Amino acid sequence: NRNHKITILSGDGIGPEVMQQALKVLEAASTKFNFTLETTDCLVGGAAIDAKGCPLPQETVDACEKSDAILFGSVGGPKWENLPPDEQPERGALLPIRKHFNLYANLRPGVCLPALKHASPVKNELIPNGFDVLCVRELTGGIYFGTPKGRDDNQENPTAHDTMVYSKNEIERICRVAFTAAMARDKRLLSVDKANVLQCSILWREVVTEVAKDFPEVELSHMYVDNAAMQLIKQPSQFDVLVTGNLFGDILSDEMAMISGSLGMLPSASLGNKKENGLYFGMYEPSGGSAPDIAGQGIANPIAQILSASMLLRYSLGENEAADAIDAAVNAAIDKGYRTGDLYTGAEGETKVGTSEMGAAIIAAL
Ligand code: NAD
Ligand code: IPM
Ligand code: MN
Repeated sequence: NRNHKITILSGDGIGPEVMQQALKVLEAASTKFNFTLETTDCLVGGAAIDAKGCPLPQETVDACEKSDAILFGSVGGPKWENLPPDEQPERGALLPIRKHFNLYANLRPGVCLPALKHASPVKNELIPNGFDVLCVRELTGGIYFGTPKGRDDNQENPTAHDTMVYSKNEIERICRVAFTAAMARDKRLLSVDKANVLQCSILWREVVTEVAKDFPEVELSHMYVDNAAMQLIKQPSQFDVLVTGNLFGDILSDEMAMISGSLGMLPSASLGNKKENGLYFGMYEPSGGSAPDIAGQGIANPIAQILSASMLLRYSLGENEAADAIDAAVNAAIDKGYRTGDLYTGAEGETKVGTSEMGAAIIAAL
């Protein structure tokens, strides 16, 4: 069956701007590779709060449930950040969707294309062969979801608390995803934790070491998160696949994005368990956010959204040829010198373009 259903959640800020380009690319790819996409647009985040009074309307969840995958833009922004925390776009929509669909495995491939080496703030001699690291981030557990969570203002010195919890099963399943990914790459897996302080990390290390027995070909190592943050800058090419918890993965993946040249380059796939047909239900979203500082100007980089759409084709729809073609078209547009403002360095051969021109350059290459 090559008629696929996807739900489009554009959200806020630059979300709708970059989504528009991703949808054009998907349309071009579906024509070229002879499949059909039935898309349903739904409200989410601040846009849903403004229109419906809540960040995640039931009809949005219903539409997602009826589809093969979700393509997500970004949510949040200054307009909604003074609402009660659970009614804000992030905690009221994005996190609940991840949890509702059990999307525990977040794959964030940080890749610095050769033509973008000089856009990376890392010294070029440190990335002689570019930068290509896969961050496997646990997405539905840890300190984001642990209870109790809250605050107590009824005392002279108010307090707030969050709880970091990981179960053995949660750690084991994300580690299996990471080892499997490492098997398809350079077979080197780094587990990042804070086992010198946190109980969760001590359990994490035990479990990852246990799972490693099932993957004898993969070379497993461990690093504390503070050192990992430093090593990413010091010697980025030592990494292949990195597996870590929700909070550490959030932070390290932004750092990886910048090593690749810009946060606007890093896509992501949030996956649950594999289905019988080998595909996943998943949500695909850029790793960056709604970028309120540049929203509405038509200058955001659409590549993270476009590469997220390509991951959707690959992991949820099995349209691998189309996914490969989109990835190649992105590389080709970059090779031709097209640069949104976040990537533009003024070097010879670069042409500074806006969001829609970048989309058009990618479609032309496709
Ligand atoms: P951000 O990722 O939105 O922006 C950080 C910086 O990166 C900004 O300078 C921004 O201009 C730049 N940037 C991000 N994406 C870019 C792109 N595609 N092209 C060019 N530049 C880009 O992070 P923030 O400013 O900390 O957060 C803004 C809002 O986004 C907050 O409400 C936050 O909660 C939300 N957020 C949402 C998601 C999501 O929906 N998945 C992810 C991260 C942050
Ligand atoms: C991300 C974002 C989200 C996260 C926020 C918006 C809740 O930063 O997807 O990286 O922390 O997971
Ligand atoms: Mn983040």
